[in-house]
This record gives sequence, structure tokens and C-alpha cells, in this order.
Amino acid sequence: MTISFDLTGKTAIVTGANTGLGQGIAAALAGAGATVALVGRSSMSETEAAIAAMGGKSFSIKADLSSIAPVGEIISETIRMAGSADILVNNAGIIKRADSLDFTEADWDAVMDVNLKTVFFLSQAFARHLVAENKPGKIINIASLLSFQGGIRIPSYTASKSGLAGLTRLLACEWASKGINVNAIAPGYFDTNNTEALRNDPDRNAAILARIPAGHWGQPEEIGGAAVFLASSASNYIHGTVLPVDGGWLAR
Ligand SMILES: NC(=O)c1ccc[n+]([C@@H]2O[C@H](COP(=O)([O-])OP(=O)(O)OC[C@H]3O[C@@H](n4cnc5c(N)ncnc54)[C@H](OP(=O)(O)O)[C@@H]3O)[C@@H](O)[C@H]2O)c1
Repeated sequence: MTISFDLTGKTAIVTGANTGLGQGIAAALAGAGATVALVGRSSMSETEAAIAAMGGKSFSIKADLSSIAPVGEIISETIRMAGSADILVNNAGIIKRADSLDFTEADWDAVMDVNLKTVFFLSQAFARHLVAENKPGKIINIASLLSFQGGIRIPSYTASKSGLAGLTRLLACEWASKGINVNAIAPGYFDTNNTEALRNDPDRNAAILARIPAGHWGQPEEIGGAAVFLASSASNYIHGTVLPVDGGWLAR
């Protein structure tokens, strides 16, 4: 038997693909042969250019994921542009920082809407398409170390990412028999907009670095291999797992 990580002929939807981890994942999937639908509210030109420069294929779909309004159109537009939708990476996410004693309802709702509610309904729209077409597919949720740990000053983020780990397991249990793999990646501390406040705080930055066995903040290109693996046939018997890509953080 030959193990294949080749995604030629597959179409992958990546949310929040304009920057950070989503950009790294989109580039890796394109590098493995997939056509990538870059979904988000900002210009995707930087990611499109990077993918084109390596000879890959992508197109962009404008969507604000703070509500579930665009989920149906994201799937139909992907199929219209590429002919199929085979892989969904739920990467877009936000974080709000404040002490729990001061945390507002607005910050609670904003994070839960993007990080959890839209992820569920976009996954539902994607799975409905696969089931209607009787096709297999792959869903990869971008979870967090806060799917395993508590953290501080990010109550809605921890609730959303812990919830996302549970949702990953539930959807895997419901959809594995339909040929849909649902898994998650839990990134450790990566150098992106999401963690800028931590890196700018000398004490937090030093404490975080001291605990990472690999000794450095993750770079967006270090997340792509796990995404290619979970998107490929090499992971066909893997369902409901949350795979840490964390430089060894959880092993400490
Ligand atoms: N960096 C880390 O250390 C780390 C660790 C664990 C988990 N994660 C997770 O990894 C994922 C990517 O984060 P990142 O680190 O790459 O941070 P980032 O640079 O802030 O990227 C977040 C992405 O989500 C998009 N997004 C946010 N709200 C959106 C909305 N309403 N509609 C459409 N797109 C929206 C952003 O678009 P805009 O640029 O337009 O805002 C951006 O593309 C997130 O789910 C995050 O929680 C990150």
C-alpha cells in the first residue's frame, strides 16, 4: 500500500486565509496539490500571490464570519468556482483579553460567534453537500492549547476552543460513518496577530518561551504539515482527534 499526502484534484476551503496560520495552511494545502478557496473579510491578495508564485491554484471568497449568514454561499461559490468542495479548514478565530471580573457580554458573544457558532454551521453546510453528493470529505478545526488548558484573561476564547474540541469529537462520531473525517489541530504559541499582545509583554513573552521545549514561537509555515496530513488519505482512519502542534508545550 502506498501512503499518499497528494491533494491533486481536491478543493480546500480555508477560512481566515489572508494572514497568520490560515495563510500558512492555505499555502501548504496548495503545495500538496489542492485548489484553495480563501475565505475571509480582508483582501486575500498576499496569500493568492504566494500560492501563484509556487505554481498553485487559489481563488477568494469574501465573507464576514461573525454571523452564519454567508455559510451556504461559501459552499455554493466554492463548487461554482472549482467544481467540488472536499476539505474544510475552520481556521478563522478571534480572541478578547480582559480579567474575568470585568469581561463583557459583547466580548463573550463576539468570540463565541466566530470561533464556535459559525464553525458549526459552516461545517453543517459542508457536510450536507458531501452527504447529498455521497462523497467523502475532511474537516479540520483549528483548536488551541486552550482546548486542554485554562489560561488567564481569555474566558470566551477558552470556552470556545474547549467547546471546539468537544464539537470535533461529536461531529466525528456522527459523520465518520459517512466518510467524513472531523479532526482538529491545536496550535501552540505561534507568531501571528492573535499573540501580538503576549509577545509585546516582556514578562509573558519570556515565560512562554521558557516553557516551549522547541525554544521558539511557532512560525505559520510550521503548521501546514499537520493540515496536509489531516486533509489527505493518509489520515482516513483518524476521527475526532485534536493534534497538538506546539513545539512540545503540552509535554512539559
Ligand atoms: N497564533 C497562535 O498562537 C494560535 C494558537 C492557538 C490557536 N490559534 C488559532 O488559529 C486561528 C488563526 O489565528 P492566527 O493566530 O493566525 O491569528 P490572526 O492572524 O489573528 O488570524 C485570524 C484570522 O481569522 C480571521 N477572522 C477573524 N474574524 C473574522 C470574521 N468575522 N470574518 C472572517 N474572518 C475573520 C482574520 O481575518 P482579519 O485579518 O480580516 O481579521 C484572520 O484571517 C484562530 O482560530 C486562532 O484562535 C492561534
